[in-house]
Amino acid sequence: MMTAQHITSPSLRLSIAPMMDRTDRHFRYLVRLISKHVQLYTEMVTANALVRGRDPARLLAHDPLEHPVALQLGGSDPLLMAQAAVMGAAAGYDEINLNIGCPSDRVTTGRFGVCLMAEPNLVGDCIKAIQDALSRQSRLVPVTVKTRIGIDHHDSDAFLDDFVGHVSAAGCKTFIIHARKAWLTGLSPKENREIPPLRYERAYKLKRDFPQLTIVLNGGVKKLSDVADHLRYVDGVMIGRAAYETPFAMLSNADAQVFGQPRQIDIEANVASKYLDYLEHETPVGTRLSLMTRHAVGFFAGRPGSRAWRQALAQSSTAPSPHVAIQGLRTVIAKMNPSGTQIVGESLAA
Ligand SMILES: Cc1cc2nc3c(=O)[nH]c(=O)nc-3n(C[C@H](O)[C@H](O)[C@H](O)COP(=O)(O)O)c2cc1C
Repeated sequence: MMTAQHITSPSLRLSIAPMMDRTDRHFRYLVRLISKHVQLYTEMVTANALVRGRDPARLLAHDPLEHPVALQLGGSDPLLMAQAAVMGAAAGYDEINLNIGCPSDRVTTGRFGVCLMAEPNLVGDCIKAIQDALSRQSRLVPVTVKTRIGIDHHDSDAFLDDFVGHVSAAGCKTFIIHARKAWLTGLSPKENREIPPLRYERAYKLKRDFPQLTIVLNGGVKKLSDVADHLRYVDGVMIGRAAYETPFAMLSNADAQVFGQPRQIDIEANVASKYLDYLEHETPVGTRLSLMTRHAVGFFAGRPGSRAWRQALAQSSTAPSPHVAIQGLRTVIAKMNPSGTQIVGESLAA
C-alpha cells in the first residue's frame, strides 16, 4: 500500500547534504534565503542525544522558513530510533533520514553509520520501528536512508543490491547514495570523502535495478549545471561541500534550473543583507555571532569585494558589540552594491 511515508518530495531533486558543524540551523536559514525549494538536512543528531540528552529542544530547533527540512538521525537501536523519530516529526521535520554513511571511529564504535551496511536486517528493523511509531501517532513523515555504495571489500553490485533490497522491503523507499565506498579502518572521515573513487554508474544502476525506489545521488557534484546530467539517471542530486563553500554561486539558479520555477534572482548583496537581518534578530537572544558569520565566508566567492567581506567577517569577532560588527558588514555590502538595488526581479519563464 502506498502511504504518505512513501511519497517522494519533489524537493529531493536537489538537496543540501547533512554536514556536522556545517548544516546547523543558521546555515540552513542562509541557504533558504537563496533557494526556496532545495531540500535541507540537519547535521546528524544521535537518537541517544535526542531521547536521553539534556536539551532535545536545542537539537531540534529550526526556523519555520527552513521547510522542507529533514532531520538526520544516527543510531541502531530500533526503539530509541523510533522515539527520536517521533520527537523529530512532532517538532515539524518533513523527513526522517538515517545516517548509514558515516565512517568515523566514534560512530562505528557506537554501531551506527556506514558499518550498518553489513547489517541490513538491523537497518530494516529500525525502519519498521520508526514507521510503526510514526503511524501510531498519525505522523506520516517519509523515512529515508543515506548510505554509500559499499564498505571495505564488500563493494559489489550484489552487496549494494542486497542491502537496498532488504531495507526497501522493510519500508524505506528513498535512498541517498554517496557514490563511493568507505574504508572502515585506515582512513579518516575526511579521507573517506576523497580517496575512495566516485562511481556514479553504481547509483545509476541502482535506479535501473530498483526503478520503483527514489534514488538520490551524492558525492563530488561541484556545479549546478552537472545536476541535470545526473537527473537523467536518478531522481535527485544531493550537494555537500560545494554548496557550503560557495552557497550563492552554487544555488542562486537552482529554483529556475532544477525546479522549473520562474527566475527570481535576488542579488547577492540583497541576500547577504537579509542574512544580516537574521543575525540582528538572533544575537539578542544569545546566539554567538561567530556561529553564524562562519557560514558566510564563501558567500561572495569569486566576486569583487569578496576579500573585504572575508576581512570584515574576521574582524567582527573583535567588534565592541554584535550590532557594531553587523553594521561593519553592512558597510561592505553597501560598497559592493552602491545603488542599493533590492531585487533584480525577473519573471522569465525558466
Ligand atoms: C564537514 C562534513 C560533515 C559531514 N557530516 C555528515 C553528517 O552529519 N551526516 C552524513 O550523512 N554525512 C555527513 N557528511 C558527508 C556529506 O553529507 C556528503 O555525503 C559528502 O560530503 C559527499 O558529498 P559532497 O562531495 O557533495 O560534499 C559530512 C561531510 C562533511 C564535509
